[in-house]
Amino acid sequence: MNRTCCYATPSEMRQIGIFALLCIFAMTQSYGQVPAANYDESNMPEYTLPDPLMFEDGRPVKDTLDWKRRRAEIYTLFASESFGVMPSGKVEMKATLLTEKPQALDGLALRREVKLTLSYHGKSLDIMLLIYLPKGLHSVPVVIGYNYEGNHSITSESDILLTESWMANSKKLKITDHKANEASRGSQASRWPLKEILQRGYGVVTAYYGDVDPDFDDGFSNGVHALFSGPVNETSWATIAAWAWGYSRILDYVLTVPEINPSQIIVQGHSRQGKAALWAGASDSRFAMVISNNSGCSGAALSRRIFGETIAAINTTFPYWFCGNYKKYNGKEQDMPFDQHELLALIAPRPLYVTSAQEDLWADPKGEFLSCVAASPVYELLGKQGFPAKEMPGLHQPVIGDIGYHIRAGAHDVTSYDWKGYLDFADYHFKKTSQR
Ligand code: GCU
Repeated sequence: MNRTCCYATPSEMRQIGIFALLCIFAMTQSYGQVPAANYDESNMPEYTLPDPLMFEDGRPVKDTLDWKRRRAEIYTLFASESFGVMPSGKVEMKATLLTEKPQALDGLALRREVKLTLSYHGKSLDIMLLIYLPKGLHSVPVVIGYNYEGNHSITSESDILLTESWMANSKKLKITDHKANEASRGSQASRWPLKEILQRGYGVVTAYYGDVDPDFDDGFSNGVHALFSGPVNETSWATIAAWAWGYSRILDYVLTVPEINPSQIIVQGHSRQGKAALWAGASDSRFAMVISNNSGCSGAALSRRIFGETIAAINTTFPYWFCGNYKKYNGKEQDMPFDQHELLALIAPRPLYVTSAQEDLWADPKGEFLSCVAASPVYELLGKQGFPAKEMPGLHQPVIGDIGYHIRAGAHDVTSYDWKGYLDFADYHFKKTSQR
């Protein structure tokens, strides 16, 4: 039939209608039905948090020996019900120095790029590290943190090797072939105020998180999951656990770097990487300090408040972040045998700094604060000061104890203000400075 206009025939209309219905069906299958987020403090369910200082059988935790056993109970719950169990197999690691620049950042830093090759049963994976160390200092503290868009994205220095792995956020980065390109150089520089960090005497070790595991649902067929391939079950480790595991492999290497103080290594992460940093800190006591930036749901924020992002929302949008068992708690926060203050408590007695942002309601700033309050008794049992606040502080009024906290103005992000907070907190613990 010769048609000049673009009206559809009745049979085409039917086909379009069927196609539309199929699309809606497919969308509800993959995205599920997630109730709208609650942002109303007066619409909060009543809740009682699980007591970190009470054994599963109801006995109280009385001393540090008891805590050791209770800690194991809590750790097992998070591993089997939330993040998934990390593999115990030991990988071989080879470090290759690719570049070294003695006068980076206008002479402030010694810069290195190192390729870590992890091998396991004939398979291997490369993780590229970008390292900045303060020039002329010895035994320096360092912050290990992943970046979102490749090592070359964290600095305006134009000679950093381009990340070679796949990029999850390809649309935003104008990437067509899922590889990084020149357009993303420096794109994340505002999140890494390198000069300020170096001037304060701290080093930085970063890696692109996609080198460790991709941030999309690939059926666990790439990244470190491919190294340890095997049958997947309800407790198998998911992607956040893979990133946490990767933090520990980076730490394995960092502990061999002569310029770095092995007892002053901090793990830091923003948002999804903040969730991973908390799990890394809980899983690996060699991290001397943990920093969670805006980690929110399933990170620092209490789940039972049902404020902002919920378990159902996170499991629906990011089904590959947590293990199969975690889906049991969609819409059932009150039935969870743990809550996020217990994740924080697993880090005790090591210093922990949690940050929120005023406009980042999706991550529930108040829920992050209350989680610190509820983790404090564990620190106190271990002879520490814990968290010296019961009321939420105002904007830009950091609370500094063994657990520290600040909330700043602005949105979900990492800013110079956040870094100042991290480093003041680290100085307080590592250099014994008084509170600023
Ligand atoms: C989404 C997600 C959060 C996560 C954040 C991020 O908003 O829902 O849980 O923390 O992305 O990683 O930026």
